[in-house]
Amino acid sequence: MLIDYTNLDSNKRYKIMSNTVIPRPIAWIVTEDEGIINAAPFSYFTPLSSDPAIVVVSIGQKEHGIPKDTLHNIIKHKKATICFVNENNIEEVKLCANMLDKNQSEITTYDIKTQTILEDFPPIIASTQTALFCTFYDKIDLPSQTTPVLLEIKFQYAQEGVFNERLDGLPDNIGRTGIVFKKMEDL
Ligand SMILES: Cc1cc2nc3c(=O)[nH]c(=O)nc-3n(C[C@H](O)[C@H](O)[C@H](O)COP(=O)(O)O)c2cc1C
Repeated sequence: MLIDYTNLDSNKRYKIMSNTVIPRPIAWIVTEDEGIINAAPFSYFTPLSSDPAIVVVSIGQKEHGIPKDTLHNIIKHKKATICFVNENNIEEVKLCANMLDKNQSEITTYDIKTQTILEDFPPIIASTQTALFCTFYDKIDLPSQTTPVLLEIKFQYAQEGVFNERLDGLPDNIGRTGIVFKKMEDL
């Protein structure tokens, strides 16, 4: 079988790419705008470079010409806090994928606990084992409704005991294989 991408519509491309490029980590991105805390999961997400420390996340639109809230907030405020999913917060992350109005917060709507670690960055999801505090680095303007955003990691939060002093350690992060969530060590 040879699949010619030129003849696939974007839904089919999304389906086959999502089921092929696996496992993918999930960036549970917290942003803020006008006092409203936004949180949403993204799995078109990967590290690009460690020096500088850059990750990339591709964010779509709510509808034609209207960016998802996460993209709007990153472009406006140049800040994002990327949390990671574990077995204890999987139901919360699924709720955060629901499309809410721009002025509605997933955090207050679904009663998700957050914690402020750094005053200059959006809060972390309290149940995450580790989180990246990032600033906007660049974006790629594709001829499509998706915008890859490059974010530079400035600080990392880790729950006590996740990493030792030599920075050895592995958080219990969950990744995505197709549409299924799995513990990274089970993949
Ligand atoms: C596991 C998972 C991964 C997702 N990955 C992406 C992604 O990579 N890019 C994207 O635009 N939307 C992705 N979504 C959908 C967004 O989470 C969803 O559109 C969300 O409502 C966006 O919220 P916002 O408008 O508050 O930014 C994903 C959803 C789930 C459940």
